Amino acid sequence: MIDVEPSGPLQTQDIATDDDVVRVRQLVRAAAVSTKLTLVDQTKLVTAASELARNALVHGGGGMARVEVVTSGAGKPGVRIGFTDDGPGIADVDLALTDGWTSGDGLGLGLSGARRLVDEFELSSKPGRGTSVVVTKWSR
Ligand SMILES: Nc1ncnc2c1ncn2[C@@H]1O[C@H](COP(=O)(O)OP(=O)(O)OP(=O)(O)O)[C@@H](O)[C@H]1O
Ligand SMILES: [Mg+2]
Repeated sequence: MIDVEPSGPLQTQDIATDDDVVRVRQLVRAAAVSTKLTLVDQTKLVTAASELARNALVHGGGGMARVEVVTSGAGKPGVRIGFTDDGPGIADVDLALTDGWTSGDGLGLGLSGARRLVDEFELSSKPGRGTSVVVTKWSR
């Protein structure tokens, strides 16, 4: 992962309800605007965040989002978002990231789609110990 410095306050949001997913979207949109991401990139990041927040809620039984404006080692601004939950975790991460794979009745496109919409994507999960996903989008 690229070395980064925080350049704004860390904003946190619990994810326990559908309304909380909307709040995450709003926090991410505001951070993306303040970072001067293009409108297209704002929308990509908000869409990715929405899917990851929904996964934390639906599959992880609720969790937390952390939204931060950061600066890369090269001085480029970006938005980094971390999602954590204490749910069952993901036994096979590669499988979970396969387009169309779902353990439930979803489309199985949330995780794989989110990965394509951001510049950096790190997923770590251990069965029984929850899931953490950190994504970053850089301004161009
Ligand atoms: N936070 C999480 N905790 C546990 N399992 C997860 C988590 N996020 C994703 N998964 C697993 O990975 C699978 C794929 O996730 P993905 O978001 O792509 O699909 P989905 O949530 O099933 O459907 P949708 O297309 O509606 O998002 C899920 O079905 C689930 O089994
Ligand atoms: Mg999903």
